Amino acid sequence: MAGLSTYWEPIRGKEKTTTVFYTTLINKMKVLVATEKPFAKVAVDGIREVIEKAGYELVLLEKYTEKKQLLDAVAQADAMIIRSDIVDAEVLDAAKNLKIVVRAGAGYDNIDLEAATAHKVVAMNTPGQNSNAVAELALGLMVYGVRNLYNGTSGTELKGKKLGIHAFGNVGRNVARIAKGFGMDIYAYDAYCPDEAMIKEGVTPVHSANELYKTCDVVSLHIPATAETKNSINYALLSQMPKGAMLVNTARKEVINEPELIQLMEERADFRYMADIMPAADAEMREKFAGRYFATPKKMGAQTAEANINAGIAAANQIVDFIANGNTRFQVNK
Ligand code: 3PG
Repeated sequence: MAGLSTYWEPIRGKEKTTTVFYTTLINKMKVLVATEKPFAKVAVDGIREVIEKAGYELVLLEKYTEKKQLLDAVAQADAMIIRSDIVDAEVLDAAKNLKIVVRAGAGYDNIDLEAATAHKVVAMNTPGQNSNAVAELALGLMVYGVRNLYNGTSGTELKGKKLGIHAFGNVGRNVARIAKGFGMDIYAYDAYCPDEAMIKEGVTPVHSANELYKTCDVVSLHIPATAETKNSINYALLSQMPKGAMLVNTARKEVINEPELIQLMEERADFRYMADIMPAADAEMREKFAGRYFATPKKMGAQTAEANINAGIAAANQIVDFIANGNTRFQVNK
């Protein structure tokens, strides 16, 4: 059977030195779920069902606090499901049997893809599976921001405001769909997405980041963290936003040039920043920008039962389909 290695081994009686009989030992494929930030229990149950139905064994490492725990757990794993957990060369070195790692989610900047390829490990993500959850949180952060963090003072409304979606992928599209319900005027910039795809969704395409930021009252970030995008959200870009502007970041903290964002917020008391990824300078920003800065304590965008079920079970199915059938459809280190 695919995925099982069966072999014969002599079993010796404790007191006897001669071989008494042979038996079949089955080494089950071990699938490690390593999540510092755990999935909802219902998602873990679903993952277990898929893994056990395939004849594999599920090993769970949740809420680990030291890398050593991950290094120990991965040593026996044939396959691994992670979230934002870091899979670097050291983890891959320790993972002697690992054939596949699936990031249950969209962004895979936490996997060292070159090291994975060098270790002959297939890396995958599960695109689209948690995007509604992230989009709902982005809108939630917008409402929280324009209502002055629910502090009892008079805020503003999203209706009629210009929303700029920076990157029109799975999350960006969901943000557009929900923002339409709020009556927002929606623009998007994505160098890799054709205008027609935006127009079809009732979104006005713009053709540069500068144009997006200059036009929009609220910008929602949905760009991945790559060499090209890191630190790209900087003073020059943000300072073009109109009075009362708000930046919402449910993407990655690395895309923000933090010192330049701080400089801008020091100069502009009207500028708000709402983040689902705590900036390195969180303490300083909380102190300096009270009432117009908020960051979740832990990345919450994909932290719903539905997103955990969708992404976690998709990851489990992708592992089974890869081990049993060699399907590499969602491989990201090709
Ligand atoms: C993603 O890239 O899928 C999101 O950022 C969610 O990340 P998480 O699984 O760590 O919550």
